[in-house]
Amino acid sequence: MNFKISNAYQAESLVLIPVLKTDDYAIFLKNILEKYKMNIPNIENDFSADIKSMLILYTPTHKIALLGLGKKYEENELIRAFRFFFLKQKNALQGKIGLEIQHIPDNYLSEIVNGILLGSYDSQLHKTEKKQEKNWFLNAESEVTFYTNISKEKSIILIDKGQKIATSQMSIMDLVNDAPNYKTPKTLIEWAKKSGEINGFDVKILDKAQLEKEKLGCLLAVGNAGRVEPALILLEYKPKNSRKKIGLVGKGITFDNGGVSIKGSTNMHFMKSDMGGAAAVLGAIETAAKLQLDIHLVCAVPVAENLLGSNAYLPGDVLTSYLGKTVEVIDTDAEGRLIMADALTYLNRNYSPEILIDIATLTGSAVRTFGYAAAALLTNNEELAKNLYDSGLKTGEKLWRLPLWDDYEDDISSDVADVRNFSGKDMAGCIAAGKFLEVFTEKHQAYAHLDIAGTAFKVTEFSTMHISTAFGVRLFLDFFDKV
Ligand code: BES
Ligand code: ZN
Ligand code: ZN
Repeated sequence: MNFKISNAYQAESLVLIPVLKTDDYAIFLKNILEKYKMNIPNIENDFSADIKSMLILYTPTHKIALLGLGKKYEENELIRAFRFFFLKQKNALQGKIGLEIQHIPDNYLSEIVNGILLGSYDSQLHKTEKKQEKNWFLNAESEVTFYTNISKEKSIILIDKGQKIATSQMSIMDLVNDAPNYKTPKTLIEWAKKSGEINGFDVKILDKAQLEKEKLGCLLAVGNAGRVEPALILLEYKPKNSRKKIGLVGKGITFDNGGVSIKGSTNMHFMKSDMGGAAAVLGAIETAAKLQLDIHLVCAVPVAENLLGSNAYLPGDVLTSYLGKTVEVIDTDAEGRLIMADALTYLNRNYSPEILIDIATLTGSAVRTFGYAAAALLTNNEELAKNLYDSGLKTGEKLWRLPLWDDYEDDISSDVADVRNFSGKDMAGCIAAGKFLEVFTEKHQAYAHLDIAGTAFKVTEFSTMHISTAFGVRLFLDFFDKV
């Protein structure tokens, strides 16, 4: 599929016109109708311009689609509207399409491209007969021409940016949506290595023997009953000139059945997505490298399967973390914080990032608190809190803050070990998990924890079942601009 720019109509099969629902959008519609030589009185009664609303009009010479954008230009709303339109229309579209965007501020071109391309995403990973004979995206003739006055140079940059982000998002969506018999720690390792080679960042793997040598006792314990051995993926993107060194850590449990503290079977299949944090980190470093951003990224992705077997770690076990502190395991289903603890300390000690952020599908508590609408943000650094919060609002990958106060320290204190991995109480679970992780950052002054349990994998308007949202990629990209 090709993108082009032009300043006017060129005999396209369809002209798509995005419409903002301003107070006087009726006037905008009237002008559009005049331009395309149509006369439809009170067209606003047939077309609300609410987000994703659509009206198709035929004239003797044109086919026109109006697409509602809602009340104001917002990155995420633009992506949503275009993704929805192209997803729903992809089997009806033909050849060349024109897109009127003269009225939309220039910079949003990258979001429009991002949205169009996400419309091509389908999660038919393992269908033997893919229903896509008529899929417009797969046709060599398909093309979108943007009617715009943006300069050629600027449009190339914006289109390229939208394409780079969307392709990385779709690649990690495939990872998250994939089945646990196709996706193991090895799959994430291979993905990272391949992406590193193609896009120009370093990838180093600590395998089981090296984890033993380096004493990452928590990661080893969690992965001990996995069908595939645990590992720590270390990734580094280092441009010639960089403004800041940022550390990212992402939870990579490729399946979580809870281990000995086994989960109930209802919805257990969702736990194939327990590597949504890892996916976000992989997607962020890949896009940062593709876009050649001037920030230095150092990332750690602990990968393991949390399964049940005779060599599984046990409730009551005391583990020795990479930090050296001992951890009493109260519940083997609180495995995420264990592998993240070792990865956080490892990254911090060996790479010394100026900012340290972790992202994980960590607790059911975060889902009960925020539903699918927002992820939890926990930090004691006000500047970091503000920047992450603002990036969340701007990208639609929203964050809302919870406290990391010492009031919650009792939840992680243990009689037999330095800390425990669960308080045993069904209270403040998301905060307790954050307090636990904080210990392993060795008082890093710019540390934030993001719990994306509710936002990484969910039912969306683009699917009938739960699918990956690629949550975190655009959030991190926007955040990198702020540091
Ligand atoms: N992977 C889960 C958290 C989760 C829940 C992610 C729902 C996505 C959707 C995590 O490993 C887990 O099982 N957490 C437990 C911790 C508890 C035993 C302290 C939880 O939140 O119930
Ligand atoms: Zn778990
Ligand atoms: Zn988990």
